[in-house]
Amino acid sequence: MSNPNMPRHVAIIMDGNGRWAKKKGKLRTFGHKAGVESVRSSVRFCRKNDIESLTLFAFSSENWLRPAKEVSTLMELFHFVLGSEVKKLHKNDVRLKVVGDKSRFDDKLVRKINEAEALTQNNQSLVLNIAVNYGGKWEIVNTCKQLIQSVQCGELTMQDINEDCFNEFTTLSEQPDVDLLIRTGGDKRISNFLLWHIAYAELYFTETLWPDFNEDAFQLAVDEFCSRQRRYGKIPDHQDDE
Ligand code: IPE
Ligand code: IPE
Ligand code: MG
Repeated sequence: MSNPNMPRHVAIIMDGNGRWAKKKGKLRTFGHKAGVESVRSSVRFCRKNDIESLTLFAFSSENWLRPAKEVSTLMELFHFVLGSEVKKLHKNDVRLKVVGDKSRFDDKLVRKINEAEALTQNNQSLVLNIAVNYGGKWEIVNTCKQLIQSVQCGELTMQDINEDCFNEFTTLSEQPDVDLLIRTGGDKRISNFLLWHIAYAELYFTETLWPDFNEDAFQLAVDEFCSRQRRYGKIPDHQDDE
């Protein structure tokens, strides 16, 4: 890591595709398709800046509540983009990981995910986590279930369970905690994205709609991050008045 002030792990709530399309008089799905270019430029930005992990919220556990047509277009788009982008990601030394509850995906999609993850598993420059059918609450419950299983089969004892151990059982284990969480589209909420991993993340909200989020917009977010003082509950050294 060349610059110690740079975030090691950035997570993004990619919001605003539908509004972007509506503003142009198009269908919402046009916005989702346009958003793929912003994914590419975000990956490019992370590679150029030696960011270790990028976690993108692509589809939440609540997004199933949208009209069936939009849900199926989003799933098809995810399937298609997985196929069309994986070779380029591999060439750029990016490791791809899909995080979320895969039990609702069809077999073909699960196979495609497994192939993409297997192809890129040894890449070192960037981990790209795509959160699909992901919910922060699901992650916590899922992690608890795995911990209980490990205790029941004798791999762990209750005394072994602490924050580090819990973290190891989450979907983003072995990756640094999220340093910077960006949400595009103007809303200021987490929408059940990462809950555990953003405990001490810096939050950055921008009005920019996801399809307009380019490398310059990413740079603005990182500039803001670099200007923040992260205290982790402590007080700055020079303000110690004892
Ligand atoms: C984010 O854009 C993409 C997904 C949630 C899949 P939206 O589809 O939520 O777009 P807006 O927020 O309605 O504009
Ligand atoms: C969050 O956006 C989910 C993704 C970006 C994938 P939403 O548009 O679904 O969130 P809400 O409904 O505004 O909270
Ligand atoms: Mg939205």
